[in-house]
Amino acid sequence: PTAERWNDVDAYLTGTLVAPDEALSASIASLADEGMPEIEVAPLTGKLLHLLARIAGARRVLEVGTLGAYSTIWLARALPAGGRVVTIEAEPHNAEVARRNLARAGVADRVEVREGRGADVLPTLAGDEPFDLVFIDADKESNALYLDWAARLGRPGTVVVVDNVVRSGHVVETDAGAQVDGVRAGLAVLRDDPRFEATALQTLDRKGWDGVAIAILV
Ligand code: DHB
Ligand code: MG
Repeated sequence: PTAERWNDVDAYLTGTLVAPDEALSASIASLADEGMPEIEVAPLTGKLLHLLARIAGARRVLEVGTLGAYSTIWLARALPAGGRVVTIEAEPHNAEVARRNLARAGVADRVEVREGRGADVLPTLAGDEPFDLVFIDADKESNALYLDWAARLGRPGTVVVVDNVVRSGHVVETDAGAQVDGVRAGLAVLRDDPRFEATALQTLDRKGWDGVAIAILV
């Protein structure tokens, strides 16, 4: 009877610590309504991102992988006046839905949705002020590339978070396909690249068994 008890715990912790919110709920509902994958971060993880941004005093946030802007709303709401989120989305329809959800949440003025592949958009951000927090949650095959850009576009002390580093445990397999290979390559960057100091947390929630890596730029 306790096999899926983490679902009850997730519901309990979410109900206890995450206030219901119409704009966030609408952004989740939009995924199903618009035929988009329902893979937004769990509410407790969205709030983790929000709190990390506040702990870091982040004014400039970079997100790779907008989807329906659920995590983007959490991050935008962590900003002080004058703060900015730049979020990159490869799928034009996702970007359109995201812009609508950001407007409904009242944060469109603080968020710039950049349409295009991360590999194409990230180089265009060089030369701007450094980002204080970077959230990587896009195609897992590119995690190592995105981490390299996070290091280039950040500064010492920048917080870097990578979603989906456990993948139902498949992360320990060396033959589990291109996405898991990409996750492992990203974790190897966090281990080997002297620009990063990192850890990771496993998560069990409505999305199943997964995890986040959390790093700082040295
Ligand atoms: C997938 C991607 C994600 O970012 C996520 O959080 C869960 C699943 C996926 O591509 O399957
Ligand atoms: Mg994800």
